[in-house]
Amino acid sequence: MAIQLKSAAEIEKMRTSGIALRKVHEAVRAIVRPGATTMDMERAAVATIEKLGAKAAFKGYHGYPAALCTSVNSEVIHGIPSDRGVLREGDIVSVDCGVVIDGYYSDCAVTYPVGNISADAEKLLRVTEASLYAAIDMAVPGGRLSDISHAVQSMCEAEGYGVVHEFVGHGIGKNMHEDPQLPNYGEPGKGPRLRPGMVLAIEPMINAGSPDVKILEDGWTAVTVDGSFSAHFEHTVAITKDGPVILTR
Ligand code: MF3
Ligand code: CO
Repeated sequence: MAIQLKSAAEIEKMRTSGIALRKVHEAVRAIVRPGATTMDMERAAVATIEKLGAKAAFKGYHGYPAALCTSVNSEVIHGIPSDRGVLREGDIVSVDCGVVIDGYYSDCAVTYPVGNISADAEKLLRVTEASLYAAIDMAVPGGRLSDISHAVQSMCEAEGYGVVHEFVGHGIGKNMHEDPQLPNYGEPGKGPRLRPGMVLAIEPMINAGSPDVKILEDGWTAVTVDGSFSAHFEHTVAITKDGPVILTR
């Protein structure tokens, strides 16, 4: 499928979706503390999504069982909320959520510290988030798709981190996943030319150690092979003639 360019009216609808998603994230963030469970976070998300009249984008997607992905410590993405998932001081938890409003999707992820975390973990969060913003800065008309990828890779590998290859960002709009696929690595200056109307979910997934990941027996949870911590930040970003607009801020 070709890259679907969105009209200004469509981007407005996606902004509405993104603002609602932000509220879901705020509700979840308020739950994060030592002793809370990832299922507590799921319940807060579901209640907020319902209150906003939105629909959870992930639930039922290829059979995924929840509205949130909650990925703790060495879990990279697609961790499933659970009553057994008790957060402890020093953990990090990545919260990924998508919603649909009026037919338009938004997708956003944040990694939170649980209480006080190690300096190493703090740096992983800081650098991964900074790489997302460096990537967003490259989302300008006239650039190339891989300029975005390269921004993530160069910033994170400079710190010795592992850039996950198996999962990628993506176009988003009337579907959660549209063309193009957006890797978090690559040489700059390659791939489709960036144009106003493209909307991308930009989402670095960065391991403190090796980039290698494996899937657990639940068929979903991706974890680092070496047990190192992993962080994930994601925004839904529209490319406009005036530059990137973050729709999930
Ligand atoms: N948030 C993921 C993405 O950005 C999708 C989640 S897959 C699901 O592509 F199965 F959990 F929904
Ligand atoms: Co995404």
